[in-house]
Amino acid sequence: MTSPNPAGSTDQPGSTDQPGRTVLITGTSTGIGLATAVAAARAGWNTVATMRDPGRADALRRAAEEAGVADRIQVKRLDVVDPALVAACLEETVAEHGRLDALVNNAGAGKVGTVEQTSTREFRDTMEVNFFGVVEVTRAALPHLRASGGRILTVTSVGGVIGQPFNEPYCAAKFAVEGFMESLAPVAATVGVGVSVIEPGAVASEFVTSQGLDIPAMVGRAGPYAAALQAYIDHVMGLFSSAQPAAQAAAVIVEALEAEHPAFRIQTSDWARQFTGTKLADNDGYSVVALTSEWVR
Ligand SMILES: NC(=O)c1ccc[n+]([C@@H]2O[C@H](COP(=O)([O-])OP(=O)(O)OC[C@H]3O[C@@H](n4cnc5c(N)ncnc54)[C@H](OP(=O)(O)O)[C@@H]3O)[C@@H](O)[C@H]2O)c1
Repeated sequence: MTSPNPAGSTDQPGSTDQPGRTVLITGTSTGIGLATAVAAARAGWNTVATMRDPGRADALRRAAEEAGVADRIQVKRLDVVDPALVAACLEETVAEHGRLDALVNNAGAGKVGTVEQTSTREFRDTMEVNFFGVVEVTRAALPHLRASGGRILTVTSVGGVIGQPFNEPYCAAKFAVEGFMESLAPVAATVGVGVSVIEPGAVASEFVTSQGLDIPAMVGRAGPYAAALQAYIDHVMGLFSSAQPAAQAAAVIVEALEAEHPAFRIQTSDWARQFTGTKLADNDGYSVVALTSEWVR
């Protein structure tokens, strides 16, 4: 695997002599992004695995070596909330690989809390990573994807379809991404670019631990919401006890990279399909609210 130089680029670009398709993936230091980078490389893609701190590429490096695909993965620095880095990373990728065939918007971060416990700053920060980051990277990638007739896959969530208790900032951001992508899909299709969203349910990754939650303290501060928050946490811990392995979610993403005509909305598991199906068939919204109300009782 080519390694990053101090400027955050790679020490051995010049991949223009490597034939084949190139995919850029955001947020590949852990979880679904890491697994997708390895799976894409295994499927033969020249994989530009981006992360905000390339010093954290060791886990990806090990997984790539174990899979025998280290030579097809190039690490680049990309913080999706930094427009200058986004522009530079996309330009550099295309200069080095000659083309960009696919973008996987994967970077994201959870945020637990109801509106009375969450500052506007925290709402904005959640929107920055999960929504504006996707906007920024997608805009920078589109000219190159138009040139290649490529595609955009964006990892949203079942929480981008069904609002979940105590996830108001996160679900608002994921709903925004779904609306953005659903609006973009027909427009991008007119210039030959495919757009799909990937909707995982609970996946085993750093997603929960990276939020640094102190659950007893959160419940202690939750006042009138304490019992509902505790019920929600118990419910979600149950869901995460049978979380889908990240490699399985990654396999669904790579299938969407490879498919001739992937669907617009792709769930990564039967559970996610069934759960989002509740909403998609629920015109008056009654069924969904009844369902999620059960989580906080
Ligand atoms: N795990 C689940 O249950 C689940 C369910 C539904 C949807 N999702 C979605 O799946 C995607 C991947 O999450 P995951 O489950 O793999 O969790 P994860 O292990 O926490 O991975 C999230 C990745 O996003 C990166 N990231 C965060 N902020 C970033 C920024 N500003 N710029 C670039 N990268 C940034 C993180 O990088 P650092 O290492 O630098 O923090 C990390 O590599 C996210 O969009 C998440 O919302 C996850």
